[in-house]
Amino acid sequence: MPRLLPHVTLASGTTMPALGLGTWRMGERSRDRAREIAALRLGIDLGMTLIDTAEMYGDGGAEEVVGEVIARRRDEVFLVSKVYPQNASRRGAVAACERSLRRLGTDHLDLYLLHWRGGIPLAETVAAFETLRSSGKIRGWGVSNFDRADMEELLALPDGRRCAVNQVLYHLRCRGIEWDLLPFCRRHGIAVMAYSPLDEGRLPKNRQLTKLASDAGIKPATLALAWVLAQEGVVAIPKATDPEHVRDARAAAEFAVGAGIARELEEAFPAPDGPTALRVV
Ligand SMILES: NC(=O)c1ccc[n+]([C@@H]2O[C@H](COP(=O)([O-])OP(=O)(O)OC[C@H]3O[C@@H](n4cnc5c(N)ncnc54)[C@H](OP(=O)(O)O)[C@@H]3O)[C@@H](O)[C@H]2O)c1
Repeated sequence: MPRLLPHVTLASGTTMPALGLGTWRMGERSRDRAREIAALRLGIDLGMTLIDTAEMYGDGGAEEVVGEVIARRRDEVFLVSKVYPQNASRRGAVAACERSLRRLGTDHLDLYLLHWRGGIPLAETVAAFETLRSSGKIRGWGVSNFDRADMEELLALPDGRRCAVNQVLYHLRCRGIEWDLLPFCRRHGIAVMAYSPLDEGRLPKNRQLTKLASDAGIKPATLALAWVLAQEGVVAIPKATDPEHVRDARAAAEFAVGAGIARELEEAFPAPDGPTALRVV
């Protein structure tokens, strides 16, 4: 398999891999640690060099797992972490980022995201992100779980347009963002990171998807992820600890969703026909 995956270009001109590795529920139990580390290492070896983590996951434990994985190979990886809303104040976000960097064993993040919107004014969070960017501790920043109205408010702030990504729930059975959030992000050059792209493991068991994937000679998870990758400006970050699952994800970058299968997917998992509230996990 070729090592280089498709990339998405951010407004800053930086590129990020379109397929990465999620880490939610990693770093919670020491007995799972070796398996989690092996899965992330395999993913990087296969070219999935984007890692998505957060201070929340395993209460810092996931960042520690990632730190072990990227030790001596930091330069291969596009590293994303997230700050808790309650930590996202002018000073709090800087301190939280420094704690994350320590756990990750690195001096910078490629992207730092506000995990979801909380009570701290957005302007404060943006100011903190810009301080971190100026000092080189982060290369860029973004948000997560922001709906269209949140995005409009953000972009109206000084430096708000520096927002590089919005990470939201998006998969075949949850396509609400296609109505207005996804087009809005595209218009403003903001990449969308699709989280839970396998519907937390439920999608690969879906009967219609299984049938379509089997007809195409691939795994259901591979088809679900290939469909996400086919959406312009969208990045997928599936989580897998089973090595076979990591390989299924990697195969998605090799599968072109042709017009025929795209039509069948559209029939089985229709696009929204009106606005819906942004769903979150
Ligand atoms: N920003 C946010 O608010 C937010 C919210 C949720 C998630 N996220 C990010 O998005 C990442 C992915 O989302 P997620 O972890 O919620 O769910 P997901 O990636 O949709 O699904 C993960 C589940 O699917 C299973 N799986 C993976 N590949 C499979 C395959 N080929 N066949 C069958 N099952 C498969 C995994 O099992 P194994 O582990 O056993 O392989 C795991 O149980 C997270 O890890 C996190 O980094 C962000």
